[in-house]
Amino acid sequence: MKNKDESNKTTVVKVDSFGDKEEKTNSTETILVEKREKVGLITLNRPKSLNALNRQLAKETLSALKKFDSDPDVGAVVIAGSPRAFAAGADIEEMAEKTFIDFYMDDFLSSWDEVRTIKIPIIAAVSGFALGGGCELALLCDFIIASDDAQFGQPEIKLGILPGIGGSQRLAKSVGKSMAMDMVLTGRNIPAQEAKEIGLVARVVPKEELLQTAIEAAQTIAGFNSPSVRMAKSAVNMAFETPLDAGLKQERLLFKAAFATEGQKEGMNAFVNKRAPVFRNK
Ligand code: CAA
Repeated sequence: MKNKDESNKTTVVKVDSFGDKEEKTNSTETILVEKREKVGLITLNRPKSLNALNRQLAKETLSALKKFDSDPDVGAVVIAGSPRAFAAGADIEEMAEKTFIDFYMDDFLSSWDEVRTIKIPIIAAVSGFALGGGCELALLCDFIIASDDAQFGQPEIKLGILPGIGGSQRLAKSVGKSMAMDMVLTGRNIPAQEAKEIGLVARVVPKEELLQTAIEAAQTIAGFNSPSVRMAKSAVNMAFETPLDAGLKQERLLFKAAFATEGQKEGMNAFVNKRAPVFRNK
């Protein structure tokens, strides 16, 4: 198989637990990783294959997400692609010769499920194609901001297969049965504006404003009381994973738990005293 990737060396500036700045050089083949203030930015970087999601890209993306999740200085993550493609799906070249037994013994696509373990919010900044696994990766993020030229689709049916990174489930929960069936069974792409109308996408912005908008949204989130942000993400996710009664109980529990944080005292005290809150993520 031809290697379409080149190694990227990126420098991540970290402040360690003693308050010292340390520079860590991450060497990745398929993504670029950087920190912009309190936001972790992961840019999918396989331009020659329109960011097709191969095994290496999954491994590197999950590793970067886990590092950001355990970094106390990072409060949210943005995953972006290139202007032409967020990601055009799982890597067809890598999969073409695989057999049932190959997938059964080494189901590497299911590793994407680990994105669900990330506690800090993840925003997908989608420009161009978000197809197949690319659409599924966007759906794995907590919300999607799309550029006006973005296209979403689950074209797997045209390849003789079906979605394999949770698309049939998350798309149905996100946009309802009828629209999910339309996309999964016809394989048609839907443009950004339609994706917004059906609730797949939270915001549509001009292409040149996409990254800035996504980073600003992530900075806003990262500026809030971090324990409460994590609890809020977890509470909303409960709506998709449990019956209403269990979700409501969990929300009540998390709501009470927020009162155990210093951030709750600070946020409410700041409001009462008409000043800006300073959250210390405790
Ligand atoms: N896997 C591997 N390579 C891919 C790819 C993919 N999913 N998508 C695009 N590429 C490669 C193309 O092979 C091409 O490579 P070469 O230059 O070496 O020929 C390069 O990216 C550029 O693509 P095109 O020349 O096709 O560009 P285009 O503008 O004419 O078309 C496109 C763009 C409509 C996105 C088209 O590339 C396409 O249809 N791609 C496949 C989309 C797809 O079927 N995705 C689902 C994959 S299966 C999946 O994701 C399963 C799952 O759920 C887990």
